[in-house]
Amino acid sequence: MGRLDGKVCLITGAARGQGAAEAELFAAEGGTAWLADVLDAEGEATASRVGGTYRHLDVSDEQGWQQLIDEIVNRHGRIDVLVNNAGIFRSNRMLDTPLDEFDLVMDVNCKGVFLGMRTVAGPMREAGSGSIVNISSLAGMQGAAGAFAYGTSKWAVRGMTKTAAVELARRGIRVNSIHPGLIATDMADQLPRVERMQRGIPLGRSATADEVARLALFLASDESSYSTGSEFIVDGGLNAV
Ligand SMILES: NC(=O)c1ccc[n+]([C@@H]2O[C@H](COP(=O)([O-])OP(=O)(O)OC[C@H]3O[C@@H](n4cnc5c(N)ncnc54)[C@H](O)[C@@H]3O)[C@@H](O)[C@H]2O)c1
Repeated sequence: MGRLDGKVCLITGAARGQGAAEAELFAAEGGTAWLADVLDAEGEATASRVGGTYRHLDVSDEQGWQQLIDEIVNRHGRIDVLVNNAGIFRSNRMLDTPLDEFDLVMDVNCKGVFLGMRTVAGPMREAGSGSIVNISSLAGMQGAAGAFAYGTSKWAVRGMTKTAAVELARRGIRVNSIHPGLIATDMADQLPRVERMQRGIPLGRSATADEVARLALFLASDESSYSTGSEFIVDGGLNAV
């Protein structure tokens, strides 16, 4: 028996990295995996590898969200799980952050999460159940000097998670955030001073994407039935330092 048997799941930013690991694990646990991204070739390849369905979705596109959720609900009659995982990173200190960079990061990391939650909330309310997992960051728990727009967007994800959780709880919809530390994906390659950061991690290493996916699986499944509006940190102890 799989831990997501019968559940219809959508994971954004699933062409590679953590999203791909989540799609793979969810499908292996009996879930029906829908993968969305803007990297179509990688997304198609990942979907066929994990046994899921890929669709192009820019998470900042309101209409695109509606079309995809309509398609999923028409096909399966429901959507049980949304992982808002798509994200972009930019490194600039606040004084050097151009407005267009701030807008772009907020569009993807913040507006994308809002639109995702708002779009799936309709069918989840009708079903009286659902789990939304928002991927924030340790940068949403601490000041993120050198990544002003990114840190701001990830604090917003943490805040939106709590507000949505309270608003949707009586509808049977749970909303939680995950706060990864340093995860070995393409995004980590863009981070400045990675080696120094790695040395400061109590467990002494970065995580694999799968180590985050296993936490996402717990939150997506009914095993986390009493958790909502909460922050789940997966950071090798970095936030404890
Ligand atoms: N890697 C880390 O160390 C780390 C740490 C903390 C949080 N995170 C967060 O984890 C999430 C996953 O990142 P990752 O580490 O797998 O990095 P990644 O860059 O490998 O994956 C991000 C995915 O999001 C997709 N994406 C970007 N813009 C999009 C858009 N507008 N619409 C749809 N998809 C889009 C990318 O194409 C990519 O496939 C992100 O939200 C990121 O901020 C990563």
